[in-house]
Amino acid sequence: MLRRIYDSPGENVTVTVDGVAVEAETGEPVAAVILRSEPHYARTHPVSGRPRAPYCMMGVCFDCMAMVDGVPSTQTCLATVRDGMVIERQRGVRKVHRA
Ligand code: FES
Repeated sequence: MLRRIYDSPGENVTVTVDGVAVEAETGEPVAAVILRSEPHYARTHPVSGRPRAPYCMMGVCFDCMAMVDGVPSTQTCLATVRDGMVIERQRGVRKVHRA
């Protein structure tokens, strides 16, 4: 559905999305990785259960929230990729993160 259309100066790394290894580049938004990884959504709505995908890509809509490295409700459009990052789609009501 979506693919990268440019070569960036980022380093090629591997992250996982729901346990599936995905190629990514350091510095690219985590939301971009989610958008090109089937099934292309970041979370499900806590009431309706319908899938929600990154939309605004600038921190406004909150439809990109996912669990990143164990931290729930991470706005993935504002988070950048690091090697070995663990990304999980957030389903239903978020879990409370205790620091
Ligand atoms: S895509 Fe809208 S807040 Fe992240």
